[in-house]
Amino acid sequence: MIFRSFSKITVRSPTNIALVKYWGKTNEELNLPMNSSLSLTVDIDQFYTQTSIQLSENNKDRLVLNKQEAEMTGRIYRVVNTLKSYSTPDNIRKGIEIESENNFPTAAGMASSASGLAALTFGLSKAYNLDLSSEELSGVARLGSGSACRSFFGGVVEWTAADSHGKSLAKQLHPSEYWDDLRLLVILTDLEKKKVSSTKAMRLNQRMMLERSNERVPLRMKEIKQGFADKSFEKIARITMEESDDLHYVIENADKPVKYLNARSEEIKNIIKRFNSPGVRAAYTFDAGPNPFILTRKQDMRDLLETLLSQIKLSTENDLKVSEDFDKKLIKNFQAKAEVPVYGIIESKISKTGPILIH
Ligand code: DP6
Repeated sequence: MIFRSFSKITVRSPTNIALVKYWGKTNEELNLPMNSSLSLTVDIDQFYTQTSIQLSENNKDRLVLNKQEAEMTGRIYRVVNTLKSYSTPDNIRKGIEIESENNFPTAAGMASSASGLAALTFGLSKAYNLDLSSEELSGVARLGSGSACRSFFGGVVEWTAADSHGKSLAKQLHPSEYWDDLRLLVILTDLEKKKVSSTKAMRLNQRMMLERSNERVPLRMKEIKQGFADKSFEKIARITMEESDDLHYVIENADKPVKYLNARSEEIKNIIKRFNSPGVRAAYTFDAGPNPFILTRKQDMRDLLETLLSQIKLSTENDLKVSEDFDKKLIKNFQAKAEVPVYGIIESKISKTGPILIH
C-alpha cells in the first residue's frame, strides 16, 4: 500500500541555561514547578536541536533521534496529544515522523531536553498549522520537559510557577539586545550521557527541595531580576553561583545522593573563584551535569580565557571555539602548565530568538 505523505517542516530551537534553577515539581504529569526560574537563551547559532516533522496517512508514529531509531516516550506523547487536541480531526488521524538532531552532546547536562522538546512543540504546531502564541506553546513544551518552556524566547526569560497548566508559562524579561555584551563559555569536561535524569533525581528529596524553593529561591528571583534591571553584573553573578551551589547541595544531600559534578567541574569552580578576586567578573553555573556554563562580559572575555587556558588543558587548538578577536596562536603560550584536561571550550552570545522555522 502506498501512503500519501505531506510536506516536511524543519525547525530549530535553542537551548537555555538557568541562572535560577527549576528543581522540584508540584505536579509531575503537568511539570508544574515548585518555584519560578530564570534563564538565558543560548545562541541558536551555537547550540541547537534541529527537528523535521512529516505527517503521513500511515497512522504510525516514528522518532529518529541523532540518526538512531528511538522510542516515542510518554513525555513526547504529552506534547503530541495536547497539540492534536487543538488540531483538526483529519490531522489527528495522521502519523507523525520526527527526525531530531542536536549539534551538541545529548543528555550531558546541556539541556538537550529543553531544545529538543521546544523544537518538537514548535515544529508540530507548524505541521498542524496552529495559531498559538509563544507563551501558549511554552506551556505545551513544559508538558514534555519543564525547562523546555524557557527556550521559546531569546534573551532573559522567566518561567512562572503556578498551580495550573494555563498559568505556568514562560515569558521574556529582556531581549538579548538589552545587554549585548553578556557572553557564555561552555566547558566540556565530560561527554558521557548522564546516569540519572533530572526527572528521576527530582523525585529523591522533596523536603530539601521544598525548603529551597519556598525559602531561598524566591529571594534570589527577586534579587536577580533587580540585578538585570540595574545591569549589575556582580549581583547577577553572585546569585548565579549561589543558586548552582545550592542546587547541587540539595542533589548531593538527598536520601539517595546523586553527584553530577566531577573533579574537573570542581577545579573550574575554584578557577572562577580565584578569577573573581578582588572583583566579580565571571559566574559558573551547572545544570544536572558536569559541564559548566560560565557567564561573563565581552570586556572580561580575554582575561578569563587566558586564566582558564593557563589551567585547563585542550588536546588541540580546534577545541577552542571562541570569537575572532582571540588569537589562537597564543594558546600554546598559556597551556605550558595547564593540568585539567577538558574536551572543549565554546563561546556563545545570548540568543536573539527562540525556535525558528528553517523550511
Ligand atoms: C537542573 O527540565 O530536564 O536543568 O521537567 O523532568 O524534564 P523535566 O526536567 P528538566 O530539568 C532541568 C533541571 C535543571 C535546572 C533548570 O534548567 O532550571
